[in-house]
Amino acid sequence: MQKEIKSEMNDFFFAKDHLDFYHEYVNVEQMYLAGIKEVRTKLEILDDEFHHRFDHNPIHHMEWRLKSPHSVVEKMKRRNLPVDVSSIKGNIEDIAGIRVICHYIKDIYRMSDLLLRQDDIHLLKVKDYIKNPKENGYRSLHLVVEVPVYLANEKVMVPVEIQIRTIAMDFWATLEHHLRYKNNKEISDDIRNRLYECAKNITDIDYEMEDIHNEVFGHHKI
Ligand code: GTP
Ligand code: MG
Repeated sequence: MQKEIKSEMNDFFFAKDHLDFYHEYVNVEQMYLAGIKEVRTKLEILDDEFHHRFDHNPIHHMEWRLKSPHSVVEKMKRRNLPVDVSSIKGNIEDIAGIRVICHYIKDIYRMSDLLLRQDDIHLLKVKDYIKNPKENGYRSLHLVVEVPVYLANEKVMVPVEIQIRTIAMDFWATLEHHLRYKNNKEISDDIRNRLYECAKNITDIDYEMEDIHNEVFGHHKI
């Protein structure tokens, strides 16, 4: 009997801990969502300026997401880190994520340079998987930046992960992700090689399309 009560009490405290955690986490999510809005707006403003000045939109479209609390907790456990809000803030840089899909490779670097030049953006990390593609063929430019968010009583610096890629890179990455994660079987060497070949072909096409665009429209002076 005593054991049962103890176990119920444990459940209660466990649940209460969870409730407190999620209550605090909801506020944190708002902050990350604000970070996404700030970065999106900056990129939209740059895209609009290009449209007006050159009749060219570097950005095809953007996608954004907040990492689900479940994935955040999983990631902390996987890394053997304490699952509390301050440790999450200090250790996970991809709670706020934006994917920027550009038309051409040159648009990727243009958008990234113009964003990083802004004096309220602080660069935390760059991974250039275009200059150095991953072994499987994955290409994209990854940035983690900190952007200021002004709340009622304070300014907070919010980290936002930005993945910038062309339509062609996105086509490959989306299908490869689906093939890898939505499949219970291990990917065979043959499939891995074929996916790598696809990535190589797509890279050639990306550069060829950029050449064609340069020949037809010339270079923009920014
Ligand atoms: P994470 O713990 O996954 O954030 O590892 P990391 O810090 O080494 O991140 P990295 O910058 O290498 O990749 C982060 C994100 O890029 C992933 O969550 C995916 O969205 C994307 N990504 C990285 N590698 C691949 C890949 O091989 N295929 C696809 N489809 N997406 C990838
Ligand atoms: Mg990630």
